[in-house]
Amino acid sequence: MFRLPQVLRTCTQAVGGLRQSILQAPLARPVLPSLSQLQRHLQATPASCTEKVNITFEFPDGTQQKVTVKEGDNLLEAVLDNNVDIDGFGACEGTLACSTCHLILPEAVYEQLSSDISEEEMDMLDLAYGLTETSRLGCACHVTKELFEGVVIKVPEGINDQR
Ligand code: FES
Repeated sequence: MFRLPQVLRTCTQAVGGLRQSILQAPLARPVLPSLSQLQRHLQATPASCTEKVNITFEFPDGTQQKVTVKEGDNLLEAVLDNNVDIDGFGACEGTLACSTCHLILPEAVYEQLSSDISEEEMDMLDLAYGLTETSRLGCACHVTKELFEGVVIKVPEGINDQR
């Protein structure tokens, strides 16, 4: 299974390799990496860091909006970057302080992500409007191709801004 920590670790290693190249460059050379160095590192960066994931948001009236999300982004970014029209969504800008980014995941996706729920998210979810068994806060859910490709995420009927 391909999980977010692995993706992040791989991305971090790719960035670390680039930093190492810069640090090891002789002082006589410019500090910035050459274009060819950058190209080599970008080619070495796994596709999973830049892969696109297709997600559908379903509104309470049954209408849907399909979006394309960068793997590694969270669902708050997915909504904002794709202009998904959810009134008041993401009011605290992803600081786990509002519950306006409440979304309802398919059960299978929720189960796979269940170990990632923090105490802070649980506390905020308790205050969300229309809480369900598979509710999560969008700002706390990071998109992976494996888990989110083709899934339909439900938008609750209302929001509750806890700030
Ligand atoms: S944006 Fe406020 S809790 Fe997610």
